[in-house]
Amino acid sequence: MHKDIKEEWFDEYQIQYAVKDLGRAISKDYTGKNLLLVGILKGCFVFMADLIRAINIPCAVDFMSVSSYDSGTESGGAVRILKDLDSPLENYDVLIVEDILDSGNTLNYVKDILSRRNPKSLKICTMFNKPSRRQVDIQADYVGYEIADEFIVGYGLDYSERYRNLPYVGVLKSEVYSK
Ligand code: IMP
Ligand code: MG
Repeated sequence: MHKDIKEEWFDEYQIQYAVKDLGRAISKDYTGKNLLLVGILKGCFVFMADLIRAINIPCAVDFMSVSSYDSGTESGGAVRILKDLDSPLENYDVLIVEDILDSGNTLNYVKDILSRRNPKSLKICTMFNKPSRRQVDIQADYVGYEIADEFIVGYGLDYSERYRNLPYVGVLKSEVYSK
């Protein structure tokens, strides 16, 4: 295990088990539809790569990148689009793909922005969900694992842009934050 990791929460097999389950459910629910997976960068890229290979129906993929306005206030965290989607959404059943749903502020804004582009349908898939942290009323339609309120890294999730490459998910040692 990496020296900065205090505890492993999900190993590669547990992650793949959940991803396969999600892929199966999505394939079933979207049969006959025009599925577009919209990944929210950067955290989603590892999960997205596995998820599309667990989906056995035709699907398109696109990405967008957003950043929260760093106002330093409890403004509700409006987001700014750093990289937008390549194409319009009118013909698609859109499934937003996120690494983790935390306060819900990011996805709340992204969902709002995308719904105004009139997709045929709009749902959310997140690998990890921290329901206890929610600040806005938003729910994911597909969830890999529900987790407790701790900061996790690995499998695409970062702390200061590090640890995304860990193939498992774990909690950092507290001294890492004080460095
Ligand atoms: P939200 O807007 O508070 O829901 O935050 C969502 C974003 O915060 C995610 O896409 C992650 O980039 C980041 N985030 C939230 N919790 C964690 C965590 O435990 N580990 C790593 N990143 C996190
Ligand atoms: Mg992040």
